[in-house]
Amino acid sequence: MLLVYAGDESVTWRALFASQAPDIACVAWPDAVDPAAVTWIACWNPPEGLFAGFPNLRAVFALGAGVDRLVARTDLAAHVELVRLVDAGMAAQMIEYAQLGVLLWQRRCLDYRAQQLQAVWRKLPPIARGETRVGVLGLGAMGGAVAAALAQAGYRVWGWSRRARQIDGVRCLHEASGLTELLGETDVLVNILPSTMATRGLLDRSHLAQLPAGALVVNAARGDQLDAAALLDLLDSGHLGGALLDVFATEPLPTDSPLWLHPRIVITPHVAASTLSGPAVAQVVDNLRRAHSGGPMSGVVDRSTGY
Ligand code: GLV
Repeated sequence: MLLVYAGDESVTWRALFASQAPDIACVAWPDAVDPAAVTWIACWNPPEGLFAGFPNLRAVFALGAGVDRLVARTDLAAHVELVRLVDAGMAAQMIEYAQLGVLLWQRRCLDYRAQQLQAVWRKLPPIARGETRVGVLGLGAMGGAVAAALAQAGYRVWGWSRRARQIDGVRCLHEASGLTELLGETDVLVNILPSTMATRGLLDRSHLAQLPAGALVVNAARGDQLDAAALLDLLDSGHLGGALLDVFATEPLPTDSPLWLHPRIVITPHVAASTLSGPAVAQVVDNLRRAHSGGPMSGVVDRSTGY
């Protein structure tokens, strides 16, 4: 039996599962249910301890792409598979969000915004796509799609990932030396890495300082990967040109955060790539059917690497 936990939306999600897969028994938390009958849980932000109550749990499906919080849980036994969404309509959204960051820089939106606030009408030299160097961190289902789309659109794209990758039109790098090389020649840095032990704090002061003068940072992954204080210092010193931030170490971003009112920062409330219920449910159902027929599921997380 599948148990669905999605906070206040649990009942709505259960109805979606029931309509896409009426043959799969499904309950919504906190429906009364025999805990021993629950073998699958599909969830987003489940409360601490939830998993411990189900002795026959076989897999937990995250209704999102990032599983950092689930990997860190102590109530998820080692034999229980953790499965994340792979793309499920999020890559297309991530491409749009990255384009937004790229255009903020290429079309000098933050410079013009500063001029606007002074009622200044001054044309700045245009920047062509081919002169715009974009560095994409993370080349998985989302980062890979972003890098490919931007390269196809005519930008100069670099990509960096833990494992070596190959993407048409993208210069793919890996390892620490690859990151240094990429940062030194990136006008728009787009972070789409999963948050893991290896990437937490990656965008620290020394890495951010390696970006060329005027670069813009897009963080669409997790807030714990970016040193916000260092970012503010580098923006205030004029070294960095701007930031487009969707994710923060604390969410919601506290009202007294200096990030909110900074003139070179654009903030969105963790909406870069939202879970789309239709494709998400379809992907979980597909995995459940694979599991029933003994096949491998897609999106199984390697809990030792954290994604
Ligand atoms: C959103 O941040 C997700 O991980 O899906």
